[in-house]
Amino acid sequence: MKVVLLCALLGIAFADPTVYFKEEFGDDWAERWVESKHKSDLGKFVLTAGKFYGDAEKDKGIQTSQDARFYGLSAKFDKFSNEGKTLVIQFTVKHEQNIDCGGGYVKVFSSDLDQSDMHGESPYNIMFGPDICGPGTKKVHVIFNYKGKNLLVKKDIRCKDDVFSHLYTLIVRPDNTYEVKIDNEKAESGDLEADWDFLPAKTIPDPDAKKPDDWDEREKIDDPDDTKPEDWDKPEHIPDPEAKKPDDWDDEMDGEWEPPMIDNPEYKGEWKPKQVDNPDYKGKWVHPEIDNPEYEADDKLYSFADFGAIGFDLWQVKAGTIFDNVLITDSVEYAEEFGNETWGKTKDPEKKMKDAQDEEDRKAREEEEKKRKEEEDANKDDEEEEAEEEEEEEDDDAAPEKDEL
Ligand SMILES: *[C@@H]1O[C@H](CO)[C@@H](O)[C@H](O)[C@H]1NC(C)=O
Repeated sequence: MKVVLLCALLGIAFADPTVYFKEEFGDDWAERWVESKHKSDLGKFVLTAGKFYGDAEKDKGIQTSQDARFYGLSAKFDKFSNEGKTLVIQFTVKHEQNIDCGGGYVKVFSSDLDQSDMHGESPYNIMFGPDICGPGTKKVHVIFNYKGKNLLVKKDIRCKDDVFSHLYTLIVRPDNTYEVKIDNEKAESGDLEADWDFLPAKTIPDPDAKKPDDWDEREKIDDPDDTKPEDWDKPEHIPDPEAKKPDDWDDEMDGEWEPPMIDNPEYKGEWKPKQVDNPDYKGKWVHPEIDNPEYEADDKLYSFADFGAIGFDLWQVKAGTIFDNVLITDSVEYAEEFGNETWGKTKDPEKKMKDAQDEEDRKAREEEEKKRKEEEDANKDDEEEEAEEEEEEEDDDAAPEKDEL
């Protein structure tokens, strides 16, 4: 409905987007999502817009609520294959807790996922989203399962590490290309075959080729005409000519006197002939390549026969991440539009609210600091007064005033 309306409003004709799954998390979210029971102490997701947000209702998502826990939650949808179609997986992540270590990704499974037993080893088709652990790991995972193996993207795609909501989008196209967008802007793109190890290398070094024995790879050689000068060899150390036998030296007691050794200023080190261009130099030998007999082209790397579930299978040290606006569709335009309508509308007011809170916190801290200072000063005054009084008392003792007598 919304899509039709939007098309009409904008006068844009979307190529009839198919929405396979869409979740904006309202009060009834738990009816659609199943908690894994693989472990008894999995962390709980709770519905909340968080500490700051753009819209108190619309920005409600599910938040990890317990520190140092595994989380396992999934939802099913009607089974589909992306063969011959574009696939878009998109959602928002907000690490409002200022995450130190924890996953922020989704896994998209085939329809036979055993939801109540979902766990880290449950086979999936695609894993996508941010992962942060310390300063060393801040990346966007894009993992494809291909013939039973999980293949990691070879490029380093950096994720956002601030406390705000961010939109993550993965686009996989039937021409075997992909694109990762963050906040509706391209973060990475390329060929599936080039950026994952789906297939073995197309060519390999020819196992039958061998560098000829007489292949000369030396660019420079010793100059055959260069010879060592006659007077080259000098000892490295010589007795110090300035040293004198001490007057009180007793040859019988101290042994025969020998002057200390010093560096010989005439010593030239080891002689080496000059280097000249090697007339027989043939360049570096390049191992010839041949077609890899193991290589078999596959024009359907992008394609999965069966998608049917999406889930959060996470470990979080510091909980507080909010997931929202999950979308799986075949339309890049629709996903962008949905991103605009959700994250796009949220981001500025969310930032404003956070800035206002920070400002309040700052003021409160200043206020507290001021109070603390005032109290400190007051205490100091008291102490000084007490000290003065004590002094006075001492004076009093020494010289009692008249009217006290
Ligand atoms: C989403 O928003 C951006 C920025 O305002 C705009 O350029 C783009 O056209 C929008 N996309 C759609 C599909 O409406």
